[in-house]
Amino acid sequence: MSEFHSDALVFFGATGDLAYKKIFPALYAMVKRGSLNVPVIGVAKTAWNRDQLRARAYESVEKHGEADHAIFEKLSRLLHYVSGDYANPETFNAIRRELGSCGHPAYYLAIPPALFGPVVEQLGNSGCSAGARVIVEKPFGTDLASARRLNRILLGTFAENAIFRIDHYLGKRSVHSLLYFRFANSLLEPIWNRTHVDSVQITMAEDFGVQGRGGFYDQTGTIRDVVQNHLFQVLTNLTMDPPIRPDSESIRDEKVKVLKAIAPLTEANLIRGQFRGYQSEPGVSPDSKTETFAALRCEINSWRWQGVPIYIRAGKSLPVTCTEVLIRMRRPPQLFPRASAPNYFRFRISPDITTAIGVMTKSQSDEMHGEPIEMFAHQNAASGEMDAYERVLTDAIEGNATLFAREDSIEEAWRIVDPIVKAGTPVFSYEPGTWGPAEVGKRIVPPDGWQNPVITSVGANGPAAHAA
Ligand code: BG6
Repeated sequence: MSEFHSDALVFFGATGDLAYKKIFPALYAMVKRGSLNVPVIGVAKTAWNRDQLRARAYESVEKHGEADHAIFEKLSRLLHYVSGDYANPETFNAIRRELGSCGHPAYYLAIPPALFGPVVEQLGNSGCSAGARVIVEKPFGTDLASARRLNRILLGTFAENAIFRIDHYLGKRSVHSLLYFRFANSLLEPIWNRTHVDSVQITMAEDFGVQGRGGFYDQTGTIRDVVQNHLFQVLTNLTMDPPIRPDSESIRDEKVKVLKAIAPLTEANLIRGQFRGYQSEPGVSPDSKTETFAALRCEINSWRWQGVPIYIRAGKSLPVTCTEVLIRMRRPPQLFPRASAPNYFRFRISPDITTAIGVMTKSQSDEMHGEPIEMFAHQNAASGEMDAYERVLTDAIEGNATLFAREDSIEEAWRIVDPIVKAGTPVFSYEPGTWGPAEVGKRIVPPDGWQNPVITSVGANGPAAHAA
């Protein structure tokens, strides 16, 4: 069932923010590449007509880059619109009519998580689900119990191999590069363990706020929005054991083992922050306790990683927009004075792709004094490269499940964050444009400090960027 090519794409949430920011540009890119030639039916409650949807798509595509007239015309001819309430069976009858003879549609739920369940049930009740697959946006559930409930609902209507759970980080070339770099070189594997690695840190910084998504964000917060999914995906790619084969199931088998080895987070290992001004954002409650920043410490309790502290921080309104991983190695025995900086590996996930190694070299003085230097390889996005959304939507329509999250790993990820997202731990304020609340520096600090990513034109960071 999962191998067929979908003959229509129906996306719920057509008037929403995700459609505007990511889906229309991805659909346009797919038309441009020649990989989209099936009807695309947008569905939403707003009483629009087809022309209004097309106008919105045009505005989105134009805002996100070029909007070539001929390519947009092609996309526009594919676009249809159904307006209606997701709780009303008539909406689903209208979708059926719009689908005409299409027998293998892909239903893409680009809607708030609370609506996934009701829409899937209606798809089942109306007969729309026959021969179809479903693409589900993150966050998949809001905690472990709701993720399980949602899985039960999905599995009541669709087979597991017809369920595609999006984590667009899995569509990023930089995340694939990380996996490739680890397992296509002999250099890393002998030292990629507790004997040689001192600490791991992952930073996902964004220099903007909630960008009009206050209503969604205030129900979600940083941990549910990007830690439980995107950053755990980065972590599993970074730390998993070599898969027995390079196919999607073997890779997903190894990833879930990493998550299984992580204990639920505790209050002592987490700091939540909120940038000043967040409570005045449209859609945000004036006394909101939702975090826009989180810094946490955890450990993978496995043979390979036990005892190696792992630090993760993510936030909105930080000084830069950058996702980066830093692995610090244990220091050698001290032979030379002041040879103190640890070796490290640095992988930048975005905005560019950088692979860097930090080492000590002898300084220019006559004495045996050293200085830290960084060697790095840097790639900008190649021209014409697929964006993550284009990649995952293309794969979902084609029925290729490799870049989608499996049910067991989603549940393991919720198990880790579940107690802490419900614990109501304190939320500390921070000024926009800073690296989060001051409390982080007191309690959640990697050995040798956090390394704050620095954006330069060539992706360099270097030892100067260390910050305690
Ligand atoms: C989304 C989050 O999943 O990922 C956003 O909901 C976040 O809050 C975004 O900004 C980041 O993705 P990217 O690809 O722009 O780094």
